[in-house]
Parts: sequence; structure tokens; C-alpha cells
Amino acid sequence: MRKKIIAGNWKMNKTFDEGMGLVSEISNMLKDEYHGNAEVIIIPPFVHINAISRMVVSDRNLSVGAQNCSNHVSGAFTGEVSAAMLKSCGATYVIIGHSERRQYFGELNDWLAKKVDAVLAEGLIPIYCCGETLEERESNKHFDVLKSQISEALFHLTSEQMSKVVVAYEPVWAIGTGKTASTAQAQEVHAFIRTLLKDKFGAEVSDNITIQYGGSVKADNAKELFSAPDIDGALVGGAALQSRSFVDIVKEMA
Ligand code: PGA
Repeated sequence: MRKKIIAGNWKMNKTFDEGMGLVSEISNMLKDEYHGNAEVIIIPPFVHINAISRMVVSDRNLSVGAQNCSNHVSGAFTGEVSAAMLKSCGATYVIIGHSERRQYFGELNDWLAKKVDAVLAEGLIPIYCCGETLEERESNKHFDVLKSQISEALFHLTSEQMSKVVVAYEPVWAIGTGKTASTAQAQEVHAFIRTLLKDKFGAEVSDNITIQYGGSVKADNAKELFSAPDIDGALVGGAALQSRSFVDIVKEMA
């Protein structure tokens, strides 16, 4: 059985006090209202990770992740944060290759491959993001783009390593735009990604990999998205900044 995962990526939002307040609301609401099996991950800015992981330590199914990490182990890399540091602060997941990192910070697939390695080397779980721009979709290049994003950053892994990776399909045109991919569009891409992984790593690995969808996920579209056979959860941005909207999405995952 594939693990179902709902992750809330706060991006660069929430001061410390705001963040702590939001987590305690989410934690209380989940205890009262959620009886399903999905794992819920809070992905705050780096500086809140330690405090949040202490807060949620006894919560069933609630984990903490980071939005990025260095590809280096340690050393003179001012401003960077290593996978070992994240682990020591209680993170268990790390987003790698979010489209905002690709777009604003020039992160390329070969660079992201090294970040995936750094995360796996510490025993953390990479959430590897891929997704096409609107222009790429409109010119029907999306499958080629996805194939390069997946193959160039993940195909150097062993099957055992790959079995630890979570993939998130996030069409860039759907992120923060209020425009969600239709369930059929998302399912088509998720199935395509699973086939790519199957051809490279075998059916046992590909069948067990969690593939999340991200891009304007809200409570009112989550149910339909989650009903698709290859959509195993969501990476949520805007709707993760409020407890009610985030928990309502989680509750759509049985
Ligand atoms: P969004 O962001 O839910 O605000 O579209 C998703 C993401 O960037 O992970």
C-alpha cells in the first residue's frame, strides 16, 4: 500500500509566533476531526523547524519537513543549511526542486540530483518536485519536460534509494494561481511518471512510490483529485496557511 501524504508548504510566510499558533491549531483539529491514515507534514521556513518538531513529537501522523537544503555536507557555504542540520532539528522530509527554487534561484536538474543524494544520505525523505510551465503545456512539451526532470535528477539512484523518494507533480501554471489541473490532467501525468519509474526501477518500486499533486489544492477540489488512482496526496501552498482550510483538505483523504 502506498503511503498517502498531505504536506503544507508555508513558503516564506509566518513569523515564529504565527507559526506556532498555526501548528497548535492544526494539531488540535486533527486530533478531534481526522481519523484517516494519511501522514500530514508541516513544511515551515527553516527557522521554525526545531520548535515545531518538538511541538508535534507526540502527534500521530504529524511530521515536519524543510523547503530546501544544501547539496553539501558542511563547510564554507554562507547562508546554506545541510541535511544533517535539518535532521538534528527534527525534520524528516525535504522538498527538493520546487518550481520557485528552479525559477528564482536557477536550480537545475543536475544540481537537484546532488541535493536528493544529500537528503538520502542523512536518511531523510526527499519530496522531489517536477512540473511544466504553461508555455510547455501549450506547446505539448510537458511529457518531455517531466521526463528530463525525473530522469536527470533521479535516475542515478539505486532502486532501494528510489523507493524512499516521494514525487510531487506541480504544474507551474497551477501554483498559486487558483487554476488547478483537472483530475484527468493530473492523473494522466501521475500515471506517466509512474510508468517512467517502472521502466527504470521496476514495478515493485513504482507501485509503492507516493506521488503527490500540487497546485491550488483546496478542500473543494481535493476529494476529486484524491479519487484518482495515481494521486497519493497533495503538496499544499496557500491553503496550508490557515488551519481550517488545511485540515479540511487532510480530511478529504480517507
Ligand atoms: P499553491 O502552492 O497550493 O498555493 O498553489 C503549491 C506549492 O507551491 O507547493
